[in-house]
Amino acid sequence: MLLKKQLRCQMQERRLKLDPIDRQQYSQQVTERVISSRFFQNAQKIALYSACRGEVSTHQILAQALQQHKSCYLPVLMNAHLCFAKIDSHSQLTENSYGILEPDLTISHIIPPENLDLVLVPLVAFDQHCHRLGMGKGFYDKTFSFHGIPKHPKLVGLAYDFQKVVHLPRTKLDIKLDFIVTEKRIYFQ
Ligand SMILES: Nc1ncnc2c1ncn2[C@@H]1O[C@H](COP(=O)(O)OP(=O)(O)OP(=O)(O)O)[C@@H](O)[C@H]1O
Ligand SMILES: [Mg+2]
Repeated sequence: MLLKKQLRCQMQERRLKLDPIDRQQYSQQVTERVISSRFFQNAQKIALYSACRGEVSTHQILAQALQQHKSCYLPVLMNAHLCFAKIDSHSQLTENSYGILEPDLTISHIIPPENLDLVLVPLVAFDQHCHRLGMGKGFYDKTFSFHGIPKHPKLVGLAYDFQKVVHLPRTKLDIKLDFIVTEKRIYFQ
């Protein structure tokens, strides 16, 4: 889809150009909103992501979650789907083919995605109704296509407020998020 491609390029560039000091401050504000939310406090099994290319950092959320004895997981790419491997503060991470840090699958504990309570999702653009545009491979769409069954993980996007657009190009295959947290506010469906 050409519209998706154009929007991705434009937003990825804006995100990369963000001043590192602003990025740190916005990530801190997003972190504070997440850790004081009910969806974080109620979750015991939490999937995060390794931030790259200017994405909102999840470092402090991970530190808080581990301190509160929650189980934490990172995605590992497998056959165009995401597997979720348990991590702790000592886990060794290595770069995958996209340059994203992943834990080692062989020594890690894998959880079926439907057993997670909360999944923090990176995104490139979003709209106020919690529709999401990702990196363009559909990995999150495919992995969470079951989303919507009564007991499902809460899917929460982390973003900068400038990533919000009025009209987001999308298809029926694009998963909708439950919440999107930015430095300014929390959007919900
Ligand atoms: N559930 C699904 N089953 C099969 N193909 C899918 C599914 N969801 C999305 N796709 C396909 O994956 C491709 C990429 O999807 P899309 O452009 O929505 O990526 P994205 O949501 O931006 O990326 P990502 O989820 O990896 O961040 C598209 O060709 C889309 O049709
Ligand atoms: Mg999609």
